[in-house]
Amino acid sequence: MKTFKVHHCNKKIKAAIKTEAPSNLALVKYWGKKDLQIPINPSISLTLSKSTTQTQIEITPKQNKGLSLDFTFDSKPNKNFESKIKTFFNRVVEYCPWILNHHFKINSKNNFPHSSGIASSASSMASIAIGLSQLENQIYENHPPEKEQKLKASFLARLGSGSASRSIEGPLVIWGESKSFKTSNDHYGVSVSQLIDLHKDFKTFCDTILIVDKNPKKVSSSMGHQMMNHHPFFSGRIAQTVNHISSLKEVLITGNLQRMIPIVEREALSLHGLMFSSSSYYLLMQPNTLKIINRIFDFRKSSKLPIMFSLDAGPNVHLLYPLSIQKKVMEFIKSQLLDCCIKVLDDQVGQGATWSFIR
Ligand code: PMV
Repeated sequence: MKTFKVHHCNKKIKAAIKTEAPSNLALVKYWGKKDLQIPINPSISLTLSKSTTQTQIEITPKQNKGLSLDFTFDSKPNKNFESKIKTFFNRVVEYCPWILNHHFKINSKNNFPHSSGIASSASSMASIAIGLSQLENQIYENHPPEKEQKLKASFLARLGSGSASRSIEGPLVIWGESKSFKTSNDHYGVSVSQLIDLHKDFKTFCDTILIVDKNPKKVSSSMGHQMMNHHPFFSGRIAQTVNHISSLKEVLITGNLQRMIPIVEREALSLHGLMFSSSSYYLLMQPNTLKIINRIFDFRKSSKLPIMFSLDAGPNVHLLYPLSIQKKVMEFIKSQLLDCCIKVLDDQVGQGATWSFIR
């Protein structure tokens, strides 16, 4: 694993940066953690391109040392998000001590519903982390290669939300140590295309998100991760992810989508199965989630098309398929799925976070 240099100097600057980071959808899910945001199993995700958080960060020098931060969401104060970001900053300070010499003004906005099982914490924390890593380069007049800058941003993002470590890069990212991917590690995400020869279908893969309910979910992912600590299926789950990562690696190289379907769907159902079977069991699926899944099964049987579903920690359904069958999938959604959802978000695999300095 790469380690990052911690700069200790009191230089202060005034600067502003705009960033944008996408959400991501895990094909092999991260569920359960130890220590400070260390996953109990490796995960692989598809970086999205249209479902993003846009953030503006302004920093100004200040005298007293201590965390000073104003956060707004959609230009309105949001104490709940502000406290999450303060927790994040308190974890990051060890690696970016310059934070304490500056006052932060941060505004974020999403172009998709937050807290509803589309990984909004991933895009939001990643958009801040990429900003922090770039501001740090500006302060120390240090400009490492872009690949290294992104690894540091992913490392910082992980401290805010584990899955955020996978939103800095694209098109697919692995986070967590795995024997199948030699340089993968628990501390930051690595783009899978740096490790294997990715099949061309995955460079344009589609994810159409069917929003079944956009209300905030009742049980947070943090609670879910915690419930894995004494979960009766803990060791079975770890063994399952080891197999899934290894089989998915083969699929990502060969493009064999028929082999991909059971891996991705089993992952989604296992995630929810772990929720159903934890000590404080709970349900995030809704009747329309199941209706959609059953219709996908029927459609796939009759059409023989390589279309599959995934779920995040929520009731919404992700329809995954190669770009070559997009037209047929759109017809299927229009004719058979619209009555089960309130909104359809078309997304596709993307390249990760971007930034530009304002002044
Ligand atoms: O990053 P967190 O702590 O919000 O956890 C996210 C966990 C899942 O979204 C359910 C799965 C995943 O790997 O993204």
